[in-house]
Amino acid sequence: MALHVITGTQWGDEGKGRIVDWYARDADITARANGGDNAGHTVTVGWQIYKLHLVPSGIIHPQVTAVLGGGMVINPASLADEMGMLRGLGVDVTPHRLRIAHTAHLITPAHRALDRAQEAARGRGNLGTTGRGIGPAYTDKAARRGLRLGDLLRADFPAMLTKHLETANEQLQALGGEPLAVPPILDEFARYAADLTPFIADTSLELYLALKEGKNVIAEGAQGTLLDIDHGTYPFVTSSSTTAAGALTGLGLGLDAAQGARVTGVAKAFQTRVGTGPFPTEVDGDLALRLRGSGANPWDEYGTTTGRPRRVGWLDLVLLRYALRLNGVTELAITKLDILSGLDKVGLCTSYQVGNRRVKDLEFGPTRLEECEPILEELPGWSQDVTSARKWSDLPGEAQAFLQRIETICEVPIQLISVGAEREQLVVW
Ligand code: GDP
Ligand code: IMO
Ligand code: MG
Repeated sequence: MALHVITGTQWGDEGKGRIVDWYARDADITARANGGDNAGHTVTVGWQIYKLHLVPSGIIHPQVTAVLGGGMVINPASLADEMGMLRGLGVDVTPHRLRIAHTAHLITPAHRALDRAQEAARGRGNLGTTGRGIGPAYTDKAARRGLRLGDLLRADFPAMLTKHLETANEQLQALGGEPLAVPPILDEFARYAADLTPFIADTSLELYLALKEGKNVIAEGAQGTLLDIDHGTYPFVTSSSTTAAGALTGLGLGLDAAQGARVTGVAKAFQTRVGTGPFPTEVDGDLALRLRGSGANPWDEYGTTTGRPRRVGWLDLVLLRYALRLNGVTELAITKLDILSGLDKVGLCTSYQVGNRRVKDLEFGPTRLEECEPILEELPGWSQDVTSARKWSDLPGEAQAFLQRIETICEVPIQLISVGAEREQLVVW
């Protein structure tokens, strides 16, 4: 058995895609377990930038089979676009390379319309969702009236879809929205059914057999621990399980798959968040502009999926320690170290002041962050450009001290340090 879970330890966008791409050189399978096209994973190879939303990042490596797992919610329109984009870039997207779980749920145009209508109805208290229909699709799943990929193969699928659209139209109208016309959606989904049928499979069984044969399987996390439906900054979260343990259910694997599994926790060298919700170490003003970037570079902090500017702040080690515990992280990958170059001082939040007490671990998970005042440690910055560093000794002493401090406080070894968006811009420690 060789399962390697790569999971986000913050609020998403940690650089999971580029870390998966690195490890996928030696992988047979890369599998997404949760979420849908709310995710945006970027992989940069030379000048080529791949932006993936549904298809696991491993697909870029020709030997890898990509699996869309049963815990996902899949918009077939987005999937068709992404398959077309990949083919246009010369990636082989055939049924032997792309496998889609029959148990994954479908996202329909009604889910997207409902997501937007619900956000509008929330007004100033909105969640800042990606508007991709994620919440409504998982709501239908939990209410046991969802449509699954396997349903596309059924003769009565048009009737199932009609019923879903009629129910969703009632909900839309109750929110003041316009009902959707049913016939064009039925036609559209008939095309998706024809196109996707060869890709739909029992991926739980296929993954089980692959692991039994000793194949290397990477589970590619989507979103991050602090967006987890159960363990995140609820209600400012997504609607799926984003942790390493969630990957097992999402992929339909048993606990035996977890034995000896590697769990890489991906963390940015600072903290970002897109959408609403608490963020103790958030900064504003010039420092925020400096960490976010102007938008001129592809790696600047603007959402891969929505283009929204991301909120930014110092790395929060209280939240990171929480994420490492929840995921059972065995090693860390720190990304975007290069962005900190040129700052006089770099901040690390090592504990919180809560009333008259100082705490270094959360007491009720991240549910009372409004009451927490971050205590920052300021470390000396470094002026050198680190983007061409490839080994530990290439890094300036101050950057090494920053990373060692993270390791000491987190009690988990750092395995990879990413110093640029491009595939090769990595220090393996
Ligand atoms: P994901 O959702 O976790 O896969 O992360 P995203 O792809 O949404 O966001 C990460 C962004 O940072 C992308 O634009 C990456 O190309 C970029 N990136 C990843 N690692 C590094 C790094 O070490 N340095 C820089 N400058 N950019 C990076
Ligand atoms: P990747 O995989 C960052 C955020 C949204 C919003 C909240 C709920 O690229 O790291 P949703 O549309 O899921 O109902 O939105 O979750 N969110 C993400 N933020 N990266 C992501 O994915 C995200 N997926 C969802 O911004 O705050
Ligand atoms: Mg992203």
